[in-house]
Amino acid sequence: MSTATLDARVDTFTRGAHQLFIGGRWVDAASGETFTTPNPATGEPLASIAAGGPEDIDRAVRAARAAFDDGPWGRMTPSERGRIVWRIGDLILEHAEELAQLESLDNGKPLAVARAADIPLAADLFHYMAGWSTKIEGNTIGLSVPYTPGVDYHAYTLREPVGVVGQIIPWNFPLLMAAWKLGPALATGNCVILKPAEQTPLSALLLAQLIAEAGVPDGVVNVVTGFGEDAGAPLAAHELVDKVAFTGSTEVGKMIVAAAAGNLKKVSLELGGKSPNVVFADADPEASIAGAANAIFFNHGQCCVAGSRLFVEQDRFDEVVEGVSDIAKSIKVGDGFTDDTQMGPLVSDEQLQRVTGFLDSGRADGAEVVTGGARVGDRGYFVEPTVITNTRSDMRIVREEIFGPVVVAEPFRSLDEIARVANDTAYGLGAGVWTRDVSKAHAMAKRLRAGTVWINCYNVFDAALPFGGYKQSGWGREMGHEVLHAYTEVKAVCTQL
Ligand code: NAI
Ligand code: MG
Repeated sequence: MSTATLDARVDTFTRGAHQLFIGGRWVDAASGETFTTPNPATGEPLASIAAGGPEDIDRAVRAARAAFDDGPWGRMTPSERGRIVWRIGDLILEHAEELAQLESLDNGKPLAVARAADIPLAADLFHYMAGWSTKIEGNTIGLSVPYTPGVDYHAYTLREPVGVVGQIIPWNFPLLMAAWKLGPALATGNCVILKPAEQTPLSALLLAQLIAEAGVPDGVVNVVTGFGEDAGAPLAAHELVDKVAFTGSTEVGKMIVAAAAGNLKKVSLELGGKSPNVVFADADPEASIAGAANAIFFNHGQCCVAGSRLFVEQDRFDEVVEGVSDIAKSIKVGDGFTDDTQMGPLVSDEQLQRVTGFLDSGRADGAEVVTGGARVGDRGYFVEPTVITNTRSDMRIVREEIFGPVVVAEPFRSLDEIARVANDTAYGLGAGVWTRDVSKAHAMAKRLRAGTVWINCYNVFDAALPFGGYKQSGWGREMGHEVLHAYTEVKAVCTQL
């Protein structure tokens, strides 16, 4: 067992002062206040961060407004803009090791996972979106206006940027969530105020440096760190913001909608989930067991799309639960910088309390903990990978998003039954189906009310594949060409010939 060496640039970066990035300059918070982001593996302070508030949000919004209304960004050709967005992807790859280390230190995830997934996916998102800059097109439309007989028209649509966009992101994939938000916004010509999660602000601040280096003009991207109520809420409510894009809890998503009502800004939301993962009796035994474990334990279960409700066809229930439990027991829980670590700490003490609180509530409700079920050690925010059975559909652990390495498993008897039970949730983000029967797989895919259905796989993400939720899991889609709708307005232009 060995431990990764801290990159000297990362060491210098974390020790430095972390200011707000507004109008192309690094500035202190107007209040002068700062807060500390801890290392979740130890609970020790990692870095000191400027605590942005309403005044800073207002400055950042005005900088973005000026950049949008009068700056060079809007006058650039689509090709020039696309090349800048591409360069951001290149710079992320050039700084991949620094970013991976920051992500692991700030969030707790294994360094190996940040290197293999978070950083390359973030770079790829910018590379993918860069290509769209030159492919934003309208239509020409033939008209048949009944009350102007004999008059000919030339009508077409323009697809234009929405304008100034506030983007509020969570802590589970800090850099990747910044990329999902910034990539399409920039490719379509918007100006942005990004509010990273208070638990994990560091990679967004390094990204801001790279964005400036890539040639994004001043004011086009502003980064204001701070807490939800102090910085997020005034951003969602600001009168000069045209759109707010949010990823986080469904509870806060509803507050964003309320805040946005003041000026009826556009809203896109990517919220929570309680995603069903359905294993039929004919599924490949090894792949379905490994897949069910990966569905819940990847990123410590801190995935909006975590396969947190495992359903197994009756005949194979015991075998699959045992298999997933064996994997849970074998997972190496530890510091993200240690080479053999497979699962790091949860992101914060708050999340530790939340997840262990759910474990207590499950036990009190009479559920059976097959494996795990407790905190690991007394330093840092580690929780055991946990498998729970003997649940009822009204238990909190079955209905609510836990956002930790905790799966509830239940048997089912038929496709009709499981289609109904799988959809019995307020959420509709993801779902998994494991079977070797092609018809059954696609029949289930149709019946599941979820934005993503994975068949014989789980947690597969790609910049080209749209992602988002049905029901209370959100509004709109991120990634793919679907996201372009979320960052553009359509203007109809009609000319009498
Ligand atoms: P949260 O929804 O409070 O935080 C997400 C982001 O929203 C952060 O940047 C935060 O500063 C900001 N925010 C918080 N309150 C705000 C407000 N009133 N106005 C504007 N912005 C605000 O999530 P939190 O507290 O970090 O985690 C709580 C639970 O939320 C988790 O246990 C999990 O169930 C869920 N969650 C879901 C995520 C997802 O990807 N679907 C991501 C993070 C959390
Ligand atoms: Mg919160």
